[in-house]
Amino acid sequence: MNVSEVTTYNSIALGVNASIYAYYANRIVAATGITTGNCLDVGCGGGYLGLALARITTLEFIFFDQSPEMLQCAEENIANFGRRLHARTLHGRVQAIPLDDASVDLVVSRGSVPFWDDLATAFGEIHRVLRPGGCAYIGGGLGDPRTRAEVEERMRRQHPEWQNKDRRPPRHDNQHYIEALTAAAIDPFAVNRSDEGLWITFRKS
Ligand SMILES: C[S@@+](CC[C@H](N)C(=O)[O-])C[C@H]1O[C@@H](n2cnc3c(N)ncnc32)[C@H](O)[C@@H]1O
Repeated sequence: MNVSEVTTYNSIALGVNASIYAYYANRIVAATGITTGNCLDVGCGGGYLGLALARITTLEFIFFDQSPEMLQCAEENIANFGRRLHARTLHGRVQAIPLDDASVDLVVSRGSVPFWDDLATAFGEIHRVLRPGGCAYIGGGLGDPRTRAEVEERMRRQHPEWQNKDRRPPRHDNQHYIEALTAAAIDPFAVNRSDEGLWITFRKS
C-alpha cells in the first residue's frame, strides 16, 4: 500500500470497520481466557485488533509488522488510544520474529496470514515465541454475519470506491494451512472456516 492507501485503510479501520476488531477481540478472550500477560499482534497494520483487545483486557502489547508505514500508523493509534497503554511496535517478518523463545502469552493476527509465504516457518516462529499455555489466534474475516452486513452497508455508503477493490491475494486453502501447521510440528491445532471467517488456533503445551 502507498502512503495515501495506508491513510485511507487506517481511517476505515478506525471508523467503518471498528466493530470487526471489537467482535474478534471478544471472541479471542472468550476462546483463550487470556486477559493478562503480553500479546503479539502479527501483521498488526495500525494495531486495530490489539487495541480492541486493550479495551477489554490488561494485556501488554507488541505490535509487529513488516511495513514501517503501518507501524507508524500503529504508533499514532496507540498515542491516540485515550489512556496509556503498555505497548511497543516491532518491525520484522513473521518468518523471523525478533523475540525470545517462550516470551509471549497470546499471539493474534487478523487479515495478514493470506499474505504470508513460507507458512510452515511462520507458524513455527509463532509457536516458538509462545510460552507454554500460550495461545495463537490467527486468521481473518469481517465478524459474524450481522457485523459483516452492518460493515458492508456502511462501506457502501461511505467508501464505495474502496469496497469495490479486491485487495486480497489468492487465499491459501485449508489443506495448505494444515500441511504447514503439521510441518511446523504443531499439535494439536484447529483450522476453522465458517461464517466468521477463517481462523487457525493452537495452544502451546
Ligand atoms: C490487510 S493488512 C491487515 C492489518 C490489520 N491486522 C487488520 O486487521 O486490519 C495485512 C498486514 O500484514 C502485514 N504483513 C504481511 N506479510 C507479513 C509478514 N510476512 N510479516 C509481518 N507482517 C506482514 C502487512 O504489512 C499489513 O500491515
